[in-house]
Formats: sequence, structure tokens, C-alpha cells
Amino acid sequence: MLAKRMEQVASSPTLQVGLEAARLRRTGVEVIDFGAGEPDFTTPEDAKVAARAAIDANFTKYTANAGIDELKAAIANRYRVDYGVEYPAQQVIVTAGGKQALYNTSMALFGPGDEVVTHSPGWPSITEQIKLAGAQAVSVRTQAADGFRILPETIVSALTARTKGVILNSPGNPTGAVMPESDLAIIADEAASRGIWVVLDLCYERLIYEEIPHNLPKILNDRMPERTVLTGSMSKTYAMTGWRCGWVIGPAPVVAACGAIQSHTTSNVCSISQRAALGALGGAQDCVQEMLEEYRSRRDQAAEWFTADARIRLVKPNGAFYFFPDISGLLSPGGISTSAEFAQELLQQAHVAVTPGEAFGAPGFLRISYATSLEQLREGIRRLLEFINTSDRIPRLKPRPAL
Ligand SMILES: Cc1ncc(COP(=O)(O)O)c(C=O)c1O
Repeated sequence: MLAKRMEQVASSPTLQVGLEAARLRRTGVEVIDFGAGEPDFTTPEDAKVAARAAIDANFTKYTANAGIDELKAAIANRYRVDYGVEYPAQQVIVTAGGKQALYNTSMALFGPGDEVVTHSPGWPSITEQIKLAGAQAVSVRTQAADGFRILPETIVSALTARTKGVILNSPGNPTGAVMPESDLAIIADEAASRGIWVVLDLCYERLIYEEIPHNLPKILNDRMPERTVLTGSMSKTYAMTGWRCGWVIGPAPVVAACGAIQSHTTSNVCSISQRAALGALGGAQDCVQEMLEEYRSRRDQAAEWFTADARIRLVKPNGAFYFFPDISGLLSPGGISTSAEFAQELLQQAHVAVTPGEAFGAPGFLRISYATSLEQLREGIRRLLEFINTSDRIPRLKPRPAL
């Protein structure tokens, strides 16, 4: 009945958790939601003021399909200031979030017969979009023991004669891993020598907690500007997920191809959202730092709470706003046997929504978003620990032997 391509594509599992939590809430249950992949902060005032002004000025019609010139220039300027990379505004296209930026890019660059190397645990849309483009996704596994670092040699050894591109996400969802410049340099040198595209998903670029040199755009630009594509978004940095505003920056033919795809699918990003994005980019940037500091203190505090049970093995994330603990020590063949089942029971019994690792290609893990208040984190983690201690389907923690 459906098109053949649908045999391969699944709908977004990360959005599913939110739906299930919302369904429970509608029945009157007080759910703590750690599933959300979005900031709990409000959109900055500068964006809201600009949006209201756009409505009042009747700026409510189609815009150029690649976006309004002022916004493209503001995005290019941000990358100039933040990373020292030079792009003219014509090499920027405004998209409906980072998701459409990555989708347009995959559709523009990849097709049947191509392999595209990426990494797992990773954001599921990247592999699904590669498949939608008709290409084959090749995922390189990162390990908790390495802090989920994307080891450059693993990427390099996954390259074949059919590899057309590499898509990297840093800081990473769901792991929070931040790619050091030196690792990307190794991948870029190899990609440049083979003429392979490198697409960088920088959606969480302003959410980095540690001093890890992260001028990834410059690393690529210095080595292979003609094969570099950068995607970014207003969503996480400015708490603007609902406005749907992101971008692709890259060589002119790629940006033109993304524009052609967009011209036949969604046309332009909502005119009001574009003005809002312009307002946020041109406004005071203190809010970005304030949000980062708040996420940092939540991360540090909540990581401490998880230490109550050593079977929750947590790597403290360096970026983004997710914990990605290994909970395989809580699973057993006779009890709760998978992280998907764990997440299901946790939601039904303790009313805490988390995303199982299966959604990111990593069974045995959970993604717990800390883009929620400290009070919610405290209560949600309390419920989670209580669930672990009281469920008769989870082995009891063995008492420490007496000395
Ligand atoms: C790794 C990653 N890339 C891109 C996106 C796209 O976000 P948006 O379309 O809201 O910009 C997300 C959203 O969760 C993400 O986690």
C-alpha cells in the first residue's frame, strides 16, 4: 500500500515518548517529563518583540525561499564572529529548524549507491534522513568507556569507495559528547583526500560546559571548504524549538540545491519566525550564557543524585542537556529485560518519562533530559531510584560485604 521507502523509515521515537507522557497527563496523572529534547526556558524577549513587530507590520507573506537577506547575513555574521569563518549571505539558507537543514542536505548530496558514515548512539533523524535520500547509513559505534568520543580512526576505517559523506553531531544527542578539534582534523584530512563531504550538525553548539576547543567550522574550512556543510538552529541555543528556524551553510551549489528542494516542499520558513530569529541573533546574548550556567548546575547536581545506585553508570556529559546512563546492570532475563521495557514501566508505575536507548541505537541505556527545573529533576530522580528499589522485577542491590 505504502511506497517502498517506507519499509525502511520509522517515525521519530524521541517524539513518541512525549506523546505517551501527554496522554497520561490528560488522564490526570502528574508526569515528570525527562523525555523532552527542548529547553524549558522561554524564548528571549528580543525574539518575541521582533515577532510582534513583524505581525503588526504585516510581515506575514511569503519571503524569498532561502530566507530574508538580513537573517542570512546575521547567521553568516554569527559564524564569522564565533568561529572566524567567512561565508557570504548567499551561502546560507534558512530552514525549518536544524532537522530540515539536515534533511535538505542529505537529499541534496546523497542517493542510491552512496554510503554515509555517522555515529551511534546518535540522533535517529540523521540515519532516517540518509535512508529517505535512498543512501545507506553506516553507523560507527562510540563507547561509554571513551565518554562516547567519536574516535577518528573508527570513522576513517568505515570509509569505503562508496562513501559519499560523513555526518557528525557535536555536541552530541543523546550522549552530550563534544568532539575535540584534533579529532575532527584527522577525519577532515582523510575526507579531503578522498573528496568526501563532511556535514556538521552544530545544533547544540552553544551548550558546552567544559573547556574543549570546539572551533569545528574552522577546522573544516581550513582543510576542505568546498566539501564542508554546517547545519545549525535557533532551537536549543535560544529556546526557540517551536519557531522552527535553522540553517545550512555551505558551498553555493549545495545551498542552491537545498533551496530547490525547499522551494518544492515547504517554501520559506514562517516570515514571523525569521524576524524573531533576527531579533534573537541581534539582541543581547546574556540569556545564552545564563541558560548554559543553569544547565551546568542542574547537570552537576543531578549527576550527584544518580550516584546513589552504582548500577546506574553515568558519564557526565560535556555538552547538550542529556544524561545517557548505562542501566544494563538493572536488567535481567527474568525481570525487566530491556531498557525499552524499563522506560515503559517507569512511566506507568512511577510516572517518569525517559527515552530508552533503543531510540538511539543503544539498548541498555536511557536518555534523561535535564532541560527541566531542578525541582522536577530532584523529584523525578527520587521516583526513579524508588522504582528501582521497590520493583520486584529489578534485582535487589547486594548489600556491601562487612569489612
Ligand atoms: C542532534 C540534533 N540535531 C538537530 C536537531 C534539530 O532540531 P531543530 O529542528 O529543532 O532545530 C535536534 C533536535 O532535537 C538534535 O537533537
